[in-house]
Formats: sequence, C-alpha cells, structure tokens
Amino acid sequence: MTARALPPRIEPSILSADFVNMQRDVEAIATADAVHVDVMDNHFVPNLTFGPQMVARVQAVSPIPLDVHLMITDADRWAPGYAELGVFSVTFHAEAAADPVALARRLRAIGARAGLAVKPGTDVTPYLELLPEFDQLLVMTVEPGFGGQSFMAGMLPKIAAVRSAIDAGALDVWVQVDGGITVDTIGRAAEAGADTFVAGSSVYGAGSAADAIAALREAAAPHAH
Ligand code: DX5
Ligand code: ZN
Repeated sequence: MTARALPPRIEPSILSADFVNMQRDVEAIATADAVHVDVMDNHFVPNLTFGPQMVARVQAVSPIPLDVHLMITDADRWAPGYAELGVFSVTFHAEAAADPVALARRLRAIGARAGLAVKPGTDVTPYLELLPEFDQLLVMTVEPGFGGQSFMAGMLPKIAAVRSAIDAGALDVWVQVDGGITVDTIGRAAEAGADTFVAGSSVYGAGSAADAIAALREAAAPHAH
C-alpha cells in the first residue's frame, strides 16, 4: 500500500437484481461506489438485457453513479448514446470497437469517463499503450454474458500487467475486474492490482446487500492501490 492508496471501489451489478424491482434494488446498494449496468445485445454475448431507455430510468432513480458496461457489437456507433444519458462511466469492449481511441475521445468529450474492456481470451498487451486515452481498464475475470460464474484465476497476471503499466506511466486509470468477485476472490484480484470491483451474485445473493458491500470492501482493503 502506498500513501496514495484509495479505498477499493465496490460496484454491484444489477444483472443480478430483480428486473421488476429495479428501483428498490438500486436503492439497496446505496452504500456502494457505483451501479454496474450490464448492457447485452445477444450478438457480442449470448444474452440480452436492456438498452438506453432502461439505463436512463436507472440513472434517474439511482442514488449513486452509473458504471455502464457495454457488451454490444459496433460500440463505435452505439456507445456515445449511453454517454449522452449523463452516466458517470461508459466501458466498451476492445473486441467490439473499430477505433477505440476515437471512441474514448468522443465519450470523454460528451462528459463520461471512458473504459476499455478485454475478454479473458484477449491479450491486453497491444492496448497498454492506449491507457492514457482511458479512465478505466476492465479485465474480465469470466466470459462475459452471465452472472454467477467462477472467477478465472488465470487472469491475475493480466491484472498485474495492467497495474504495472499504469504505475510505470504514473497514470490515473482505474483497474476494474468483473466476474466471480466474492469475499474469497476479491483479495487476490486486489493484490494483483485491481482497485475497482464489480460484484453481482455475491451482493444480490446475500441476505443484506449493504453487509455484502462492506465485507467486500474490507476483504480488498489490505491491498489498496
Ligand atoms: C458478466 C457481467 C458481470 C456480471 C457479474 O458478463 O459483465 O457484470 O454481472 O456477475 P457475478 O459477479 O455474479 O460474476
Ligand atoms: Zn459487467
């Protein structure tokens, strides 16, 4: 831990919320740092969630900022529309964008933080030199598409590579992990270099979402970056 270390950010995923009680379930995570919003299109991933209308409604009722994770093809075309809703952050997949730098600049110009995500099978090395163009790098720790999968420990070296590049460049870029984050896995992800943690089933599957958020934060805190 350094003197600059910040508390770990916990971002529950509403993919695991009750879709007909979305306002209640967003209010239930008010102690978290952001709401993680998974947009899926049945093309980039084999699952379908919701689009901009739903994101706009969540944005309208949420007590905390929205971290939108786009799992959609043709991000260049569709991502700016999500930024225009006024959300805090928009992350698109490297595998789904023709020109990631141009898109990140558009998102930032609109006023959102820009995030770049990589699937488990994608080598992050070619993207490390693009880090100054982004506010967040998302290392997927499961195959995107579904909640409730197991954390892929094989992604720890990728997290560490991203952390090294950020520290070497003294960059202000968050390292986010998404998939299989629980009190049992968050410490390893934090130790490898993550500072921003998405958790779906481990928060919404718990008796108390607030207690689950606090437990995750506590489990990651010894490894704050
Ligand atoms: C998966 C989504 C995740 C999902 C994580 O494609 O990107 O955000 O909600 O769910 P858990 O935490 O249950 O693995
Ligand atoms: Zn996600």
